[in-house]
Amino acid sequence: MIDLSARVGDLELATPIVAASGTYGYGLEYDGLVDWSRLGGISVKGLSAEPSKGHPAPRMVETPAGMLNAIGLQNIGAEAFLRDKLPRLRTLGPRIIINCWGNTTEDFIRIVEGLEAAEGIDVLELNLSCPHKHEWGGVLAADAGVTAAVVSAVRSRTRRRLWVKLSPNVTDITEIARAAEAAGADALTVMNTVRGMVIDVEKRRPALANGSGGLSGPAIRPVAVYMVWQTVGAVTIPVVGAGGIISGHDAAEFLMAGAAACQVGTASLYDPAAPARIAGELAKVIASLGESRVRDLIGCARKAS
Ligand SMILES: Cc1cc2nc3c(=O)[nH]c(=O)nc-3n(C[C@H](O)[C@H](O)[C@H](O)COP(=O)(O)O)c2cc1C
Repeated sequence: MIDLSARVGDLELATPIVAASGTYGYGLEYDGLVDWSRLGGISVKGLSAEPSKGHPAPRMVETPAGMLNAIGLQNIGAEAFLRDKLPRLRTLGPRIIINCWGNTTEDFIRIVEGLEAAEGIDVLELNLSCPHKHEWGGVLAADAGVTAAVVSAVRSRTRRRLWVKLSPNVTDITEIARAAEAAGADALTVMNTVRGMVIDVEKRRPALANGSGGLSGPAIRPVAVYMVWQTVGAVTIPVVGAGGIISGHDAAEFLMAGAAACQVGTASLYDPAAPARIAGELAKVIASLGESRVRDLIGCARKAS
């Protein structure tokens, strides 16, 4: 028997596999399609205080070994989420991670305070790393000072666990990671999508209405593994890895680089059961390595290097 249990700080997860924000709706859409006991958590679509329409279409385009998106953080807003989604989401079983965002620090405070009274939320995951949020004037997590300002403003207003989601679109992720840790983050999610662009040759213009977008899927996995590796070496808080995981073998890479848990995003868009499947595959990988627990893998590649 393989022990798939995992831990991110004081939060225990049934497995280290978490559905990544923006690729698993509000979780409920997948009920009946996936074995919930195999998921450690669900990170819901990035939530803001007010509903948001996101960017105009086209908002997604396939790329070799990945996809580019510029959804623009479309969501139903906190009030509708708390009323229509959270009560049933709480019955599914996996830990509930509320990915959230605002256009300004005040907006971040509003969404976090608006969720404070709700029961059953395990984690707030601050999205400071969307690569196409024009109101931000750039990626928030590309600036250590901005990262620290948002995280500390939120930290003083919530008792909840705070995971801060970082961006690969930076010169040195370790600087940003340390700033988030010092400002009060409990864990770091590494990473969001990589900025990119596809040109539609026939139409002679960018394929996405927004122009640029965020690249995800297997194409970005080596970038993500490296970002996790660097971040784990720079902070003492746990790191949750994300970027291009489509198999248990991929998840093992992230754990071996030092991640405490992993998020699965794009894979769920073509295989709704991907997070559960990947958890099952991970158990087989652990067994094939002659180990019996997730924690036997965590950081093991660091000792070898
Ligand atoms: C369609 C789409 C929507 C996304 N929306 C969000 C979001 O709302 N908040 C967020 O923090 N990340 C969002 N992400 C980023 C993913 O959560 C994840 O960090 C990234 O896609 C890398 O993982 P993957 O390669 O497994 O997809 C989104 C990604 C995709 C593909």
